[in-house]
Amino acid sequence: MIKVITYGTFDMLHYGHIRLLERAKALGDYLIVGITSDDYDKTRGKINNHQSLMERITAVKATGLADEILVEEYEGQKIDDIRRLGADIFTVGSDWVGYFDYLNEYCKVIYLPRTEGISSTEVRAEKRKLRIGLVGTAAFRTKFINEAKYVNGVEVVGIYEARQPSEPEEDSLFYTDNYDELLEKVDAVYILSKPELHYEHTKKALSVGKHVLCESPIACTGKQCGELYDLARQRGLILMDAIKTAYSTAYERLLLMAKGGKIGRVVSIDAVCTSLRDSVMSEWNSMCSWAPAAMLPVFQFFGVNYRDRIFFTMFQDRQKNIDAYTKIDFVYDTGVASVKVAQGAKAEGELIITGTKGYIYVPAPWWKTDYFEVRFENPEDNKRFFYQLDGEGIRYEIVAFSKAVESGKDMNYVSRGISEAIAGVIGDFNERKGLIEIGAAAK
Ligand code: CTP
Repeated sequence: MIKVITYGTFDMLHYGHIRLLERAKALGDYLIVGITSDDYDKTRGKINNHQSLMERITAVKATGLADEILVEEYEGQKIDDIRRLGADIFTVGSDWVGYFDYLNEYCKVIYLPRTEGISSTEVRAEKRKLRIGLVGTAAFRTKFINEAKYVNGVEVVGIYEARQPSEPEEDSLFYTDNYDELLEKVDAVYILSKPELHYEHTKKALSVGKHVLCESPIACTGKQCGELYDLARQRGLILMDAIKTAYSTAYERLLLMAKGGKIGRVVSIDAVCTSLRDSVMSEWNSMCSWAPAAMLPVFQFFGVNYRDRIFFTMFQDRQKNIDAYTKIDFVYDTGVASVKVAQGAKAEGELIITGTKGYIYVPAPWWKTDYFEVRFENPEDNKRFFYQLDGEGIRYEIVAFSKAVESGKDMNYVSRGISEAIAGVIGDFNERKGLIEIGAAAK
């Protein structure tokens, strides 16, 4: 019996795929089809497949051409599969000519002519792109513009800023100092204006029927934040919190591991985020720049109903509400958490989740997590985990947003309750509720 093996993503299965599978099958007696997992596709830079792994498997199965289907999850797996399953022929389309010649060592490699005029990319492109407008000036705007280019089905078309930028990022984008004009020309906005303007900008966008991805905090009080989520729901729109960390695979996994009891009962979470950058300082204080991300693991793990909370703050400029350093202590019935954020002080940006049996350690900068360790008393039991993170998570965040808009379903990476709790903490800080001031920072 001649066994043939082939691999692909098979997103939005089209006749190019079917013809490939038919010809692959005809090369032998038994056809094995490897379908790339969503995670593996992410590491190959193929993001925003329209269909999930299960949907893609179901579609390939329905062709009736595959005798066996497997999931491709890691680099080098093809060699493993070929040896393990005893495949005689490896085949793929001619777009890969030469690329898989190294497999000749294990079986025969055949490149089949690719069907002209069709590809998943084209099928996806037939859908109209989601036009995104950017609101505000924050330094990471350029990153967002660049990252959006990796995502199928979205395009950044314009930018609104109260004052025109001295150096526009790209000629293809239109710039306006009129927010209404931007809103007219887009389907959605990404808001990265000053935190005190988020509420106003988000409210206006939602009121005229535009979806919103907003940097955290979405508003400066929990109540206002809730109001915006209500408005989004009433209008059938997506409102999403843009905390990049939430979209990192490693971060998601470590949280699940902690929840799954791997380190026993969790007693404490300690998160530190600092950066010494003056340009950011001028518009965003340390609390708004860092506390949303730093509070994320605390709220996602312990929930938002803490028993007590206290701020320790060293102000850089009290009048302008600019904090050089803030430490927030949360007390829960089952544990404690400490969040340290600073733009006027420097510390190791690590995350530690302490449990009764061991701890999870995420080295700096933990908010761009691609690696973590689970450590125990006996170092032999320690385990290390790595999950590729491209573009600091921004491109996955854009994928999640565009999928949410398309499906009309919130993807819930950062839940409404957590968004509201974050805005609530920022509001309390602004009102100095439960805040102890520590020595003024040296100028
Ligand atoms: N294929 C083909 N003819 C096409 C499209 C794909 O023969 N018109 C083959 C590819 O060469 C590969 C398999 O089908 O062997 C799976 O391809 P995949 O990458 O999943 O599909 P594409 O349509 O090429 O996807 P994309 O546009 O995202 O690159």
